[in-house]
Amino acid sequence: MSVDRPRPLVAGNWKMNGLRSSTRVLEEIHAGYTPGLKAKVELAVCPPATLVGVFAHHAVGSRVAIGGQDCHAKESGAFTGDLSAEMLADAGATYVIVGHSERRQYHREKDVDVCAKAVAAYRAGLTAIVCVGETREEREAGKTLAVVRKQLRGSIPVDSNSHNLVVAYEPVWAIGTGLTPTVADVAEVHALVRDELRRLVGKAEAPRVRILYGGSVKPSNAAELMAVDNVDGALVGGASLVAADFLAIAGAYLG
Ligand code: PGA
Repeated sequence: MSVDRPRPLVAGNWKMNGLRSSTRVLEEIHAGYTPGLKAKVELAVCPPATLVGVFAHHAVGSRVAIGGQDCHAKESGAFTGDLSAEMLADAGATYVIVGHSERRQYHREKDVDVCAKAVAAYRAGLTAIVCVGETREEREAGKTLAVVRKQLRGSIPVDSNSHNLVVAYEPVWAIGTGLTPTVADVAEVHALVRDELRRLVGKAEAPRVRILYGGSVKPSNAAELMAVDNVDGALVGGASLVAADFLAIAGAYLG
């Protein structure tokens, strides 16, 4: 690991899972977030919106960051059912995931929408975790790099830097399927992301922006994936719901 690599981030995306009783899982994560682990890796948990405030309250003092899974581009207004970045920040979040492929797929979010949400995150003082990734058809057609490049150019706001932006590369076909790309494929896409970041945030900031890999990360493959060049952590779905698994993934950084 080179010395100027940023501090890695392992973020849990709970999706539409979790009730107040799940605070127990957060407490188990706190208990396992030892000083040794804290020194090596930052942890974040992104529960459903109903739990952001509860979790942020419980997380005080533990250094586990809390994030939302989506936000509206506007600060407030007549948008029934939506949540603003300001509301997430007010509830104690410091991160928000934007442009997750499930939002792109089920809510038809386009790059321009994702970019507006990232702008909203910055406005509210949140760090945006901007997700990109190709579908199976796009990969099979040899379009992976072109698709990811286009998503990055369309989704990352101009005023991004290593504090307000995290990028997550999540091949859509790897999410929740147990399938993962080869190490060489991950390396190829992450190198492209780093390269694009040089263009988008500048040569000085680009090396410090964390690029997460996401899609079927589990304890058994975490060490291999986290060791890939330009992989600065993980965005974890299913395995983040079990404290021991989430901690074991972060434990890949203990070497
Ligand atoms: P998974 O989900 O780890 O369950 O594949 C990852 C994600 O959607 O962020």
